[in-house]
Amino acid sequence: MSGHGSPAPMIAAPTQGLSGTAEVPGDKSISHRALILGALAVGETRITGLLEGEDVLDTAQAMRAFGAEVTQLGPGAWSVHGVGVGGFAEPEQVIDCGNSGTGVRLIMGAMATSPITATFTGDASLNRRPMARVTDPLALFGAQAVGRAGGRLPMTIVGAADPVPVRYAVPVPSAQVKSAVLLAGLNAPGETVVIEQEATRDHTERMLAGFGAVIGTEETAEGRVITLSGQPELGPQTIAVPRDPSSAAFPVCAALVTPGSEVLVPTIGLNPTRAGLFTTLREMGADLAYENPREEGGEPVADLRARFSPDLKGIEVPPERAASMIDEYPVLSAVAACAEGRTVMRGVGELRVKESDRIAAMAAGLQACGVQVEEGKDWWIVHGRGAGGVPGGATCASHLDHRIAMSFLVLGLAAQQPVGVDDGGPIATSFPVFESLMCGLGADIRHAGSRERD
Ligand code: S3P
Repeated sequence: MSGHGSPAPMIAAPTQGLSGTAEVPGDKSISHRALILGALAVGETRITGLLEGEDVLDTAQAMRAFGAEVTQLGPGAWSVHGVGVGGFAEPEQVIDCGNSGTGVRLIMGAMATSPITATFTGDASLNRRPMARVTDPLALFGAQAVGRAGGRLPMTIVGAADPVPVRYAVPVPSAQVKSAVLLAGLNAPGETVVIEQEATRDHTERMLAGFGAVIGTEETAEGRVITLSGQPELGPQTIAVPRDPSSAAFPVCAALVTPGSEVLVPTIGLNPTRAGLFTTLREMGADLAYENPREEGGEPVADLRARFSPDLKGIEVPPERAASMIDEYPVLSAVAACAEGRTVMRGVGELRVKESDRIAAMAAGLQACGVQVEEGKDWWIVHGRGAGGVPGGATCASHLDHRIAMSFLVLGLAAQQPVGVDDGGPIATSFPVFESLMCGLGADIRHAGSRERD
């Protein structure tokens, strides 16, 4: 259960010359999936590099509640003794997924085709987020859901005793919905088919294949068609979780906008379904190099070297790239504020239903920092002030959203006056070592009220 207590205000002050190596933690998406699929395999899965952020720890706790034995062996090293597909036990307590949309949606999928009932809840942010996008397809398998108005948590799922396989075209670009349907399909007889119009992150498909499921993907006129054969026996795996490109985004962007910086961020996953931010930054003129490109654990990786880039230019981000950088728009908007000209972001309506309404949250904070922003239902435009041109000097609301908090702290390093956030506590959900890692590079980031660093 996440232990988010009283607000922890933080502040970032103008800094010069970030330098060094930023070893960012494990990938959050892959960490959730490793625990869940480990719990559905027969035997012991060993995981290294697991992200030990609150979101993932909540999923570990949930897997215990469904009957798996989940043990931490050392830092990032975990063992999961799974119960097999269809082997989940009924939890005795409410499952608290904290801040994590990925956790709750994937776990709902994983239990929805077993004859058990579970009740899910989360923090104030998660309890505002839409769940019908998952419970609608789960109903096609025969599961029932009863939640609050608007399909909100807390919510009880009664799993299908006699599930049927489904064919489902995902109506929104969402890897969480796709994954929930695939995980439900595991315990349905026959073939479950998921169709997505736009490619979203494919970690579930890759990992299911690794665990021995029969799964295929075909590009068709309808979109990507993913076919999974139900009721496989999943064999335990050894999983090395790669570092998270979504966390790497913060030291990379900080280096690009902070004068005199050069930062190396090693072994970052460049799976094309996740790497859209880095392509966008290079189009903006970022001095960002991919060094030693190679494959690790079936995923393309490289070491990223980012240097201060004083001549960044605003661009139009192609809407078809949105899914591959959906979590990176907040920090991109901080970079865009430090670029010359307009950065136009379209086709990003999904940002309104993340841990916060990320368009509204970033627009409000950027405007408080002296940056002009225009917004519509599924688009927004940041009018850049150029390198060194952001006034700053505001305290921004993070709305229980880790990426909003980190994005404003990155902006504070490059603004004329410090930028604060009202609550840096949520950063622990995805990047618990953010503050120490950034300070290790020389960033002036601290808890508001704490003594200034020497
Ligand atoms: C995730 C999918 C994305 C992303 C989230 C992680 C995943 O959400 O925003 O941080 O691990 O599947 P959506 O699938 O809702 O777009």
